[in-house]
Amino acid sequence: MSSRRLITNLKGIFTPDPAIPWGTIRIEEGALAIQDGHVAWMGARADLPRPWEDAEQIDGQGRWALPGFVDPHTHLLFGGDRSHEFNERLHGVTYAELAARGGGIRETVRATRLASVEELVEIGEERLRKLARKGVVHLEAKTGYGLALEAESRLLEAYDELQRRGWSLDITLMPAHDLPPEFAGEPDRYIRTVAQEWQPELVRRFPGVARFCDVFVEQGVFTVDHGRQILESGRKLGLTPRIHADEFCHTGGAELAAELGAASADHLMFCSENGMKAMAGAGVTPTLLPATTLFLGMRDFAPARRMIEAGCRVALASDFNPGSCACLDPLLILRLGCLQLRITFEEAFTAMTLHAARSLGREDLGHLTPGALARVALWDVQHPLELVYWMGEAYIPTVLP
Ligand code: NIG
Ligand code: FE
Repeated sequence: MSSRRLITNLKGIFTPDPAIPWGTIRIEEGALAIQDGHVAWMGARADLPRPWEDAEQIDGQGRWALPGFVDPHTHLLFGGDRSHEFNERLHGVTYAELAARGGGIRETVRATRLASVEELVEIGEERLRKLARKGVVHLEAKTGYGLALEAESRLLEAYDELQRRGWSLDITLMPAHDLPPEFAGEPDRYIRTVAQEWQPELVRRFPGVARFCDVFVEQGVFTVDHGRQILESGRKLGLTPRIHADEFCHTGGAELAAELGAASADHLMFCSENGMKAMAGAGVTPTLLPATTLFLGMRDFAPARRMIEAGCRVALASDFNPGSCACLDPLLILRLGCLQLRITFEEAFTAMTLHAARSLGREDLGHLTPGALARVALWDVQHPLELVYWMGEAYIPTVLP
């Protein structure tokens, strides 16, 4: 039996328009018809096609219907607690100095290696519940706090279990997130090991679980050439490349993403003009993480406007992780998009829905036009712009289905 449901009594509908670059659709007094979990019709209540009049009705309670958020960059699963670093940074210790003294990512790696799969699943579910409550309906999540074959394998097993429990996730393999102590001073050997042994083995153990691969290309971490090795070998295994690029200085990570036709290049605070043009030409989604820039106390936010002018379809993401962005709040990202990246509300919202979903290859998410999955967030606001205007307000949407 097919299900037919109609959301009525909506104050309005606001959605990106997938047919027009950066276009949005805004309908007052709207109604949404949903057939078998997909949007079948969207428009003004007064224009509802007759056959929908007798569908099961859902009361929109005078709210605005928006597509749920998609978060295309998170490091969801990790153990331990690095909140002490927050204050150390306020005392003047830099992120790089914390890492150099064995803290930073490596501190989280030590804690994550001690966690069982069951513990990781529990930690993951708690975080996913928080995100879902705030309107996130799909997200990308990376491995990368194991940095050893068995520990990365446990992270993948935990993600597999979270997907089985019904969480809507796309998984990214990222053992090249940092150099583990076992390979100290030998980044070339580590990269070869990940590219030639671990990635193939992890894909063999968990077929179809990971869809993407990622690497941290940054001065003092991995080079552009290391990045190329990881992403090319990942691609041969059927994984689509993403990349952490140009976060603390310009390394050419965005150019590499364009060369390889990566799905996204992320961070990009120090992206070059050439990098922007190359990404626009190659259809790479620049994924900007303004809460990370804020959390790290950095002055230079990513040049979002110049990227849009270069022709890029920019996305926004949280980068949720224990060291550079302890943030599970999509509204903060949206607000920082407007206030620090200086893009409009419509642009920031599109970047957190349609463009985020497209960078994950999900044409059926991030909008509410016919054919989309009906993952609808109903917000109790007079107008969608309120979500950013009332800066500290903790709006909680009702999420359908
Ligand atoms: O995306 N840049 C590398 N990885 C994370 C930070 C990870 C950490 O500090 O634990 C990021 O910002
Ligand atoms: Fe990240």
